[in-house]
Amino acid sequence: MNEQQNHKGFVSKIGLVLATAGAAVGLGNIWRFPTTTGQNGGAAFILVYVLFTLVLCVPGMVAEFIVGRNGACAAKQAYAKAGGKKAWGLLGIIGMIACSVILGFYNVIAGWTLYYLGMAVGDQVLGDPEHVAEGFGAMMSSMWIPSVMGILFMLLTHGIIVRGVQNGIEKASKIMMPLFFVLLIVLIFAGFTLPGAWKGVEFLFKPDFSKVTADVMFEALGQAFFSLSLGAACLCTYASYFRKDVNLISSTAQIVGIDMSVAILAGLMVFPAVFAVGVEPNAGPGLVFMTLPNVFYQAFPYGVAYVVSVLFYALLALAALTSTISLHEIGTAVIAEEFKMDRKYSAWIITVLCSIITVLSALSLGPVEMGFFGMTLFDNFDSFASNMLLPLGAFCTCILVGWVMKRETVVEQLTSGGLFPRSGLFINTFFFLVRFVCPIFIVAIFMYKMGVL
Ligand code: PHE
Repeated sequence: MNEQQNHKGFVSKIGLVLATAGAAVGLGNIWRFPTTTGQNGGAAFILVYVLFTLVLCVPGMVAEFIVGRNGACAAKQAYAKAGGKKAWGLLGIIGMIACSVILGFYNVIAGWTLYYLGMAVGDQVLGDPEHVAEGFGAMMSSMWIPSVMGILFMLLTHGIIVRGVQNGIEKASKIMMPLFFVLLIVLIFAGFTLPGAWKGVEFLFKPDFSKVTADVMFEALGQAFFSLSLGAACLCTYASYFRKDVNLISSTAQIVGIDMSVAILAGLMVFPAVFAVGVEPNAGPGLVFMTLPNVFYQAFPYGVAYVVSVLFYALLALAALTSTISLHEIGTAVIAEEFKMDRKYSAWIITVLCSIITVLSALSLGPVEMGFFGMTLFDNFDSFASNMLLPLGAFCTCILVGWVMKRETVVEQLTSGGLFPRSGLFINTFFFLVRFVCPIFIVAIFMYKMGVL
């Protein structure tokens, strides 16, 4: 099969934005955003996150799209083509490593959602706060459940990956995204009816600037990149399937808009309930799972609560699935094109390697104490991939697009071959951002974190 045949474009434009947004929106928004927000003091963290998203991630995303669509092939080759040297292909490899590590620990949480879906169907989730906390504790301390569920989720992803791009991803996200959005809104209103809920809103929106430390900035940077799947060669891979008439700028705006709104909405869904039922905001990875069942149980009549809980975990598992698909796709595509290997086999390589990370991460959160620097192994994997590899990938992509790629090629992609003309000011501003602002900011935050600045 040649490259062109291998790279069939997305069928429709709306499918494209939704599929890419679907890949971006996931546990990063619904689970990781509330978790890190809770651990980093609330509103001030959110402000920094929003700022980084707008100033660093928007240009970074456009840059990654440019590399991807210009390449129209797997990430490694796309980077090599953009840079004109094979060595740039290393960026695709960094992205692939980031994606695989992320897929590894991400599957643990995805597995939790699957487990909770099963529990919700069997009517085991609903009950008073004690029952909810006990249920979560029982799952976490089990030697088997989290690992088995994580591997199960991996196999689900694997099955979809070997069936090809359009079928799996596009169909799933088209149906799922709008529905999930509606359910989020319903749950926000439900959470607001709980006594003491207002404290959660204050936590989210009343910033205390004394809380903006180097750590908070570092975490906000990682969260912004993680949530948008930026710097992982993921967006580059998606853009390789974009047609020539796709407007990269407006697509970026839509995807960032959707992703950020879902994160903030998730915060609004979780924190009022956190304060109403007395869970600690910095409870860590379990926060969302220990909180939401209380909302279902306390805000709705029992029958409705049952339906809502099943629907919620089903949609959350689907949202996780669109992300695991995109995480899996990178490695599968890179290995297949690199070693001229059948996708069936390259997919298995990724599945097996990531499952090992899944099991280690799952055990470290529960029954087996493992990890470095005073963190669990789960957090080590997360921090290494999200806070370090993703910003590194985005940094290099900005350097590549800003300094190395031919200006005409970049402009050609920015304007979609002249289809969407851009003013000189617009183009110069873009270059200023990717040449100076993004790289300097990212390096400065790293230096600040290491205490050099
Ligand atoms: N953005 C995804 C989410 O929010 C996670 C992800 C990160 C996916 C990096 C791909 C690459 O769930």
